[in-house]
Amino acid sequence: MLRLLGIGVRGLEPRASWPPSRHSTKLSYTPLARGIILHPMVISTSGSAAKHAQSRSGPTNSERPSRSATAALLAWFRASRRPLPWRTAWRDPYRVLVSEVMLQQTQVAAAVPYYLRWVERFPTLEALAAADEAEALALWSGLGYYGRARRLHAAARAVVASGSPGLPADLAGLRALPGIGPYTAGAVMALAHNQRAPAIDGNVIRVLSRVDALEEGGKAAGLRSVEAAWLRLAPRRAMRHYAEALMELGATVCSPTGPDCGRCPLKVVCLAGIRGNATAYPVPSKRPAVTAVAHACALVRGDDAVLLVRQTEAGLWQGMLEMPRAEVQAAEAPQDAAVRALLAVTGLRGDLIRAWPTVRHSVTRYRVTLHPFEFSLPDRWRASDALEAQWVRVSSLASAPLPAAQRRALVSAFGSAARGANAG
Ligand code: ADE
Repeated sequence: MLRLLGIGVRGLEPRASWPPSRHSTKLSYTPLARGIILHPMVISTSGSAAKHAQSRSGPTNSERPSRSATAALLAWFRASRRPLPWRTAWRDPYRVLVSEVMLQQTQVAAAVPYYLRWVERFPTLEALAAADEAEALALWSGLGYYGRARRLHAAARAVVASGSPGLPADLAGLRALPGIGPYTAGAVMALAHNQRAPAIDGNVIRVLSRVDALEEGGKAAGLRSVEAAWLRLAPRRAMRHYAEALMELGATVCSPTGPDCGRCPLKVVCLAGIRGNATAYPVPSKRPAVTAVAHACALVRGDDAVLLVRQTEAGLWQGMLEMPRAEVQAAEAPQDAAVRALLAVTGLRGDLIRAWPTVRHSVTRYRVTLHPFEFSLPDRWRASDALEAQWVRVSSLASAPLPAAQRRALVSAFGSAARGANAG
């Protein structure tokens, strides 16, 4: 029933330069009197003193607090980590990639059932590459930010098409794949290959911005300092546990508004924590203004089916199925926009049957209001007359790749049969 209309490959994660410059500034700390009062010292990694220090065999005095803090972090992680399903698959780069892509914009609790279903259906990169993009999107349905699923699928196809036996095992090779930015590439290298590659997501930025009291930590300009902190605290060997421990610390202890500094394994080196102002870091960057948009869509029933269109335009919902939809223009009535949407797909205006309840949904910086209207079409009209339109059986809606707002509108009209198989 689902037709595949091509693979969508859109923008990559923002690129930031890596590795950090050798001129980046490091802070290190000298503990006094049981490690309560710390003296930050600035060390330049490009300076000859630093080079000299690095060439010595053992850790320098200034490295020692970092070493013991790292040991404390690793011990804390061993004792406190949550038993998450991807943590049993650390050595499988594909599974690391899937989990990290899912976790980019999704909370752990929401990602877990999707991850389990995904690796059951697509246990390997080859299995994913062999599937239709539509099936990948359907399995992602409800998780949001569908570009992630499209790019994961495109990355799997690119690797298989290149003839290589698996994902590249180097940063540059990973970064060349669709949708793999510096964070994801670093995470695959650190978690799957145990390499010294910074994996810096929002949680890690927060932890390390606090450790080094980096005001700029949350901004692009501050990323290098965060990377420098990551590298400074990195252990010699247990890179995968270290990388994951920092993420875990950010998710469970070093929270945005209520950090539990007393429980933090990094408390002896955390400058912001010692100053008692952890929540002042990182200074939040300005959020893009929220934009309200109104859309209207046309719901048309067929024989135990509904008329849907594959979204081909680049954007949030590319590749997904939708009722014919149009943006409501200024001074336009939502119903007129729905007629316009139906006309564009079928060439017919249809007869209005009723309005369905409005659906409100937030996605990225958009607050979308969707106005669904039900229409009937003359019996002579056939979906095959419309290039992109297709009748989708109501019984297939649960597994169809539908944007969240559209699914909610369809649940109003068709009841629980339209509820996603993935809905939590
Ligand atoms: N957030 C991003 N990656 C994560 C991971 N591997 N485990 C837990 N939370 C995460």
